[in-house]
Amino acid sequence: MDSKSYLVQMNGNGVHSKNSVNAKTLNGSGVNGKVVHGNSILHVNVNGTLYPTKAKSRRQRWSVKPSEMSNNTLNPIRAIVDGMKLTPNPDKPMIALSIGDPTVFGNLPTDDSVLQAMKDAIDSQKYNGYAPSVGYQKSRQAVANFYSCTEAPLEAEDVILTSGCSQAIDLAISVLCNPGDNILVPCPGFSLYKTLAVSMGIEVKLYNLLPEKSWEVDLQHLESLIDERTSCMIVTNPSNPCGSVFSKEHLQKILKVASKHCLPILADEIYSDMVFPGVDSPSMATLSSDVPILSCGGLAKRWLVPGWRMGWILIHDRNDVFGTEIRRGLVKLTQRILGACSIVQGALESILNNTPQSFYQETISFLKSNSELCFNELSIVPGLTPVMPSGAMYLMVGIDMDHFPDFKNDVDFTEKLVTEQSVFCLPASAFEYPNYFRVVVTVPEELMIEACGRITEFCQRHYRPRSRDSNDLDQ
Ligand SMILES: Cc1ncc(COP(=O)(O)O)c(C=O)c1O
Repeated sequence: MDSKSYLVQMNGNGVHSKNSVNAKTLNGSGVNGKVVHGNSILHVNVNGTLYPTKAKSRRQRWSVKPSEMSNNTLNPIRAIVDGMKLTPNPDKPMIALSIGDPTVFGNLPTDDSVLQAMKDAIDSQKYNGYAPSVGYQKSRQAVANFYSCTEAPLEAEDVILTSGCSQAIDLAISVLCNPGDNILVPCPGFSLYKTLAVSMGIEVKLYNLLPEKSWEVDLQHLESLIDERTSCMIVTNPSNPCGSVFSKEHLQKILKVASKHCLPILADEIYSDMVFPGVDSPSMATLSSDVPILSCGGLAKRWLVPGWRMGWILIHDRNDVFGTEIRRGLVKLTQRILGACSIVQGALESILNNTPQSFYQETISFLKSNSELCFNELSIVPGLTPVMPSGAMYLMVGIDMDHFPDFKNDVDFTEKLVTEQSVFCLPASAFEYPNYFRVVVTVPEELMIEACGRITEFCQRHYRPRSRDSNDLDQ
């Protein structure tokens, strides 16, 4: 069928073909005077019919609606925090223990060598252009060299550079899952997994972490959630929001479940190596040769530069399960929007090779000391149960709500803590884990001491013994 089209001028008195379409054809196929009137220009095809959809679909009024994807995109932290009435006590300066950005207080600058690497990259003028979508080969090689080990060897081709760890997670979920699939996500856990998955039509199944076992995975619960539509398991180690670090033995048990059910793992290892002295923290890939793993990481936390937006995916696939298909899928996904900033890529090799060990050690020893301080202070507060972390930059605190009848829940508790004491901690409802709150331990020590003092005062003021407890006391 001839699908060529011609411009036809309508003047209300008839039809003039600008090309040599004869009037008979047009009349015969019924250019509709009712639909088209006045002076206008229409497209008709050689048979003389109007493009029917154009005529039918002409909108009568404006109606621009947000897409389903945007409607389905929800950041639970924003949803909860934006709904809170955060009015600090005007007599007390605000202390925010809520922001997982180690740069906010200025007490944890990155290392000079990291800054120098960036300055050199800028001065070289070599990194002002577009990098390949997966990143410069040299920079990928530098990441591969940094993380490669005998148990889990890496080459440049196994590394994809991304805009922060967030994009790494986005690409990993996107390449492994289809709409209608489900993924296993830790609870409590980092909220981005759900935000991304739900917006893509992927169901999220939350598996429990156990506070009484330093937030180890409830393995039975994890396994019970797996079905034929489960396409990946996310493991965050060390953890945000818990600050927990899984032992080698526990990681092996998780891997056993993955292996038994042939489930690939998305290992969120953005806090890898941020563990307190004496804590062993192998990466998941070093412990399994059969489970395929996409390990997501980046510069944000360990190098204390979250704003530089440098992340990566390390593809571990010694059993050749991902094969070329998943790799090709990842490469295609990177071609949608270029990822990591070229200048940071230019600095990456130097950052990874020249940051002194002392920088990492000092950061960790600060985080440990602040965690201990917070844990010790809050352990003796009636009604609170902090869980001592082993790494990362967070500490979770349980609230025994029965002892705080003034408050409806953790959101109410943390809201009133702002109103009375100007201390803001994130209610763990934001991590799907009510009756806890999360403390970020990157604040300067003196602020941590002050904040703990105020939390103690707040709890003492509102703590009520349970009626059963008071009966016990009466006896
Ligand atoms: C567990 C976890 N994964 C990923 C990210 C995102 O990292 P980035 O800032 O590099 O996107 C964060 C940031 O807080 C995180 O806590």
